[in-house]
Amino acid sequence: MQRKDFLQSLIGASAFIGLPFTTIGAVNTSIQELINNTKRAVNGNMFGFAADPIKKVRVGIIGLGNRGNTLLEMFQYLLENEMVEIIALSDISEEKVNKAAEKLALWQSEKPTLYYKSKTEWEKLTTRDDIDLVIIATPWDLHTPMAIHSMENGKHVGCEVPIASNIEDCWKLIETAERTQKHCMMMENCNYNEEELWVLNMVQEGVFGDITHTEGAYLHDLRALLLHDTYYEGQWRLHEHAERDGNFYTTHGLGPIAYYLNIGRGDTFAHLTSMSSRELNLSLAAKQAGHPIQNYKCGDMNNTLIKTEKGKSILLQFDVHTGRPYSRINKVVGTKAVHDGYPSRLYIEGEKPEYWGHNWLEEKEYNEYKSKYQHPIIKKLKAVSQGFKQGHGGMDFIMIYRMIKCLNLGIPLDINVYDSVMWSAITPLSELSVAANSQSIIIPDFTGGTWKNENPLEIMKEV
Ligand SMILES: NC(=O)c1ccc[n+]([C@@H]2O[C@H](COP(=O)([O-])OP(=O)(O)OC[C@H]3O[C@@H](n4cnc5c(N)ncnc54)[C@H](O)[C@@H]3O)[C@@H](O)[C@H]2O)c1
Repeated sequence: MQRKDFLQSLIGASAFIGLPFTTIGAVNTSIQELINNTKRAVNGNMFGFAADPIKKVRVGIIGLGNRGNTLLEMFQYLLENEMVEIIALSDISEEKVNKAAEKLALWQSEKPTLYYKSKTEWEKLTTRDDIDLVIIATPWDLHTPMAIHSMENGKHVGCEVPIASNIEDCWKLIETAERTQKHCMMMENCNYNEEELWVLNMVQEGVFGDITHTEGAYLHDLRALLLHDTYYEGQWRLHEHAERDGNFYTTHGLGPIAYYLNIGRGDTFAHLTSMSSRELNLSLAAKQAGHPIQNYKCGDMNNTLIKTEKGKSILLQFDVHTGRPYSRINKVVGTKAVHDGYPSRLYIEGEKPEYWGHNWLEEKEYNEYKSKYQHPIIKKLKAVSQGFKQGHGGMDFIMIYRMIKCLNLGIPLDINVYDSVMWSAITPLSELSVAANSQSIIIPDFTGGTWKNENPLEIMKEV
């Protein structure tokens, strides 16, 4: 194969994975070249971007499976308070769209338009001129095309995680958002969880001193759901595990960490290396269930190590094959304190060496920190959300509330297009590193150099 064709064939992580490589040195150069070749001119002008205020945000939702339904329920409060109106719903399944419309009828008298007749029917939703915001909760491979099509047709976007699955799409999303001047927010709900917001507040208040290291993860036994006949439409998520290897779900762990480390706002991801274990647990479960697909490329456990430009390290783990309790780890290591999650524990460094210790805070002291540094938005929205569905313990409600409220007020959204892309890009980069014997990969600068500015973290201005 000609070198140019070879590089072309690598574009898109899935195209990359199956290629046989012989010499690691050559592979390393090619990967970095491939990544560099995808680069587009971007200028970072969406940091701090605010659109005109929208008194009542007109929404269209694409994808009404498990997640789409939960997200729909988060709108009840906003509908009842006339902050939003749901104009249209789309899914390939007529049954799912009708069910969602029935649910919506409990809170909204105007009937939404329903689009369901074909795989491309969603395009009609995005081209209407009476919709401001398109919410996307479809399988991963549809996120980028749907987000781009929506922005090109003048809509703001709220998209499920991850927003992109290959590096080219990452650039396209940023280039489109900058050119169309539309919000493009990946709806990373874990950034709105009470524990993560508490840790963020402590980071911002200096409790941790200077941070040196963090750890995050998505450790969630999904075997039964992945192998279920109908839980995921067409078992789309299982197919991802049959075809790829790397960390597919980076953002639940990495999103909060990116806030702690001011990624895009004074620091950025510099390089990574990624390693997957062998695969055993999903194929064993598949055999037990008599599932027709019994071979999976995705290793049970992926470890990705990222270094930031300012020298901080991040360990990111991904395992949805192994039976074990759920964890996102949520570890922060600083010069003055350490936090570890699942269960949450806090260590505070004593001022003098004789007070240095090896113990987590006792319950009483821990609770004092918990209450002193509870995030203001949690205080406020816990009261607001009483009596409404919470979604994942409350974080889904806060995320949707914040997104709509920011659009109502015409202020920047908490998660911008650079955040969305930077947190998602780790997936294809991890796949590339895994496929090349864990070679170190330089992470592209998706901010056009503007990460060097101390851009304020917009999140959670008290509204
Ligand atoms: N943030 C979270 O906590 C969280 C939780 C669950 C899922 N998710 C994300 O939500 C997304 C959806 O996951 P899910 O569990 O709801 O899967 P799902 O299979 O239940 O839902 C996907 C829906 O998209 C629909 N769809 C597929 N192709 C379509 C098309 N061309 N046009 C319109 N609709 C189409 C399917 O019919 C299905 O109803 C994924 O990206 C997943 O990662 C996020």
